[in-house]
Amino acid sequence: MVRFENVFMRYDGGPVILRDVSFDLEPGSFHFLTGASGAGKSTLLRLMYLAARPVSGQVSMFGRDIAKVTRKERPSFRRRIGVVFQDFRLLPHLSALDNVALPLRIAGTREALIREHVPELLAWVGLSGHLDALPATLSGGQQQRIAIARAVIGRPSLLLADEPTGNVDDRIAVRLLYLFEELHKMGTTVIIATHNESLVDRFDHPRLHLEDARITRRAPSSLLRRPPPRATTASAGAAAPRPPAADPR
Ligand SMILES: Nc1ncnc2c1ncn2[C@@H]1O[C@H](COP(=O)(O)OP(=O)(O)O)[C@@H](O)[C@H]1O
Ligand SMILES: [Mg+2]
Repeated sequence: MVRFENVFMRYDGGPVILRDVSFDLEPGSFHFLTGASGAGKSTLLRLMYLAARPVSGQVSMFGRDIAKVTRKERPSFRRRIGVVFQDFRLLPHLSALDNVALPLRIAGTREALIREHVPELLAWVGLSGHLDALPATLSGGQQQRIAIARAVIGRPSLLLADEPTGNVDDRIAVRLLYLFEELHKMGTTVIIATHNESLVDRFDHPRLHLEDARITRRAPSSLLRRPPPRATTASAGAAAPRPPAADPR
């Protein structure tokens, strides 16, 4: 689905952002992309949705080297990828409903279907009362949820989300993650860039971690966490090591 081979990336004159990065993501997988602010998460996603080209190395999407995708092929290529941009990129003159409907209208979906599905999805992300609202009249978190709805409405085979929970509280963040999980269960490959470690810890997905311009793969956080010893099993409890200084008083 996504393959990077020896990819180097830098913006002209700037520091190296990706150094000899290679990895392979299976169709149907779900990954978090983590790393500190400035580590290159957005840049990596940009390479995947054809908004940037590597300085060297090869990026393949859906089995095709992106350097060989012709200008004519680009729109159909991009339609298979849903993107939630860090800065939303909503069209300011269109209502919430029309923003989300846009990918369907471009794809020629019947208006009756649009009228049925778009309000349903907007209700799911908690915006049923704002179908006709212009983005500027909504909060950052609400705009972000419109951007998410727009990215998923066309059931893309790959969903790239750049800090999709950056502007919402934890309760809504978890709900949005459930939405991505539902999409994933229907077969969508999902990659979510985030620096929200506590959110990553709550979900059972592997991660790609960016640090010092390199990628490392990490197992789902649940596999790294050790459950605390249970007090109810007396004999095991006596033998189990205690975490240092973790006793609540
Ligand atoms: N269009 C650009 N031109 C020049 N430098 C950029 C551009 N976009 C990002 N950068 C730089 O590349 C580095 C990685 O940025 P980015 O991919 O946005 O990281 P992250 O999303 O992890 O915060 C940062 O140092 C940033 O300043
Ligand atoms: Mg970013």
